[in-house]
Amino acid sequence: MRFSLLALLSATTVLGTAVPSHLQSRDVSNDDLNQFKYWVEFAAASYCHDNYASKAGHKLSCWAGNCPQVEKAGATIAYDFSNTTATDTSGFIAVDTTNKAIVLTFRGSYSVRNWISDAAFPYTDPDLCTGCQAELGFWSSWKLVRDPITKALNSTAAQHPDYELVVVGHSLGAAVATLAAADLRGRGHPSAKLYAYASPRVGNPALAKYITAQKNNFRFSHTNDPVPKLPLLTMGYVHVSPEYYIKSPNNATVRAGDIEVLEGDVNFDGNTGTGVPELTAFSAHHWYFEEADGCKGSGLPFKRV
Ligand SMILES: *[C@@H]1O[C@H](CO)[C@@H](O)[C@H](O)[C@H]1NC(C)=O
Ligand SMILES: *[C@@H]1O[C@H](CO)[C@@H](O)[C@H](O)[C@H]1NC(C)=O
Ligand SMILES: *[C@@H]1O[C@H](CO)[C@@H](O)[C@H](O)[C@H]1NC(C)=O
Repeated sequence: MRFSLLALLSATTVLGTAVPSHLQSRDVSNDDLNQFKYWVEFAAASYCHDNYASKAGHKLSCWAGNCPQVEKAGATIAYDFSNTTATDTSGFIAVDTTNKAIVLTFRGSYSVRNWISDAAFPYTDPDLCTGCQAELGFWSSWKLVRDPITKALNSTAAQHPDYELVVVGHSLGAAVATLAAADLRGRGHPSAKLYAYASPRVGNPALAKYITAQKNNFRFSHTNDPVPKLPLLTMGYVHVSPEYYIKSPNNATVRAGDIEVLEGDVNFDGNTGTGVPELTAFSAHHWYFEEADGCKGSGLPFKRV
């Protein structure tokens, strides 16, 4: 089944449950903020060729200068799954001994614009919960790498039993990270934390509710970034809650007061309320506490999905 994006953009039906956010708004502490700024550096590192084309033992570094804390922590790659699959599901498992974390990171696709303009967004049953439907492309991306990753995670976790599991991604990588975290929590990693920066919507209300109830979800959006507005509400897709909505402009240092915590699988006080996705206005998509995809420079591969 294919949808016309433009036709849907003009439709007005809204599914999901809108919740008045101010009733439940929470504050972001400076400790929270430091976490948000730290984990995005792994997402940033996953765009850097030196990292995603590396072998186990490689120390993460970012030529764009956007992962200084990760470099300082000395995080190394334990398992790499870049350039191995047809769907371009790429990333790595890193071990961060400084922060006692195992970090499963999914790289965003280089072709996010192609993804959007070729929007079809069919559902599939991910077999995670009753009535749950996930976006087919995101779920397929995860399913393709799930077995080797779970195996590698299990053995890495066995070597570091006191480490926490953190699942990270930016853009399409965040969508895959969301489904991966949801699945891994039911496969021996119940308290996996999710840091999803600029994620598209990944599923229907039943799936969003299921993932929300698992807790430990940190999903970020930034001003009018078009990517978290897709797939559209009119297609039945909603978001995992809460939303950490970054209100400050591009290239500005984000302070705790710039982030609003919004509840509900549909909330018009955040990114969703900033209008229809403008497919030409991508600037907010790059800036999540820093230039999250700064390593996507010239000379890097441009794969079509
Ligand atoms: C990815 O794989 C292809 C084919 O195996 C190879 O030609 C290419 O150099 C690889 N790219 C990277 C970044 O490793
Ligand atoms: C990983 O560990 C979990 C929990 O111990 C187990 O349920 C799962 O089957 C393991 N998966 C693999 C691929 O080893
Ligand atoms: C933000 O920084 C990028 C890269 O340095 C630059 O291309 C862009 O124009 C800047 N945007 C704003 C709003 O200052």
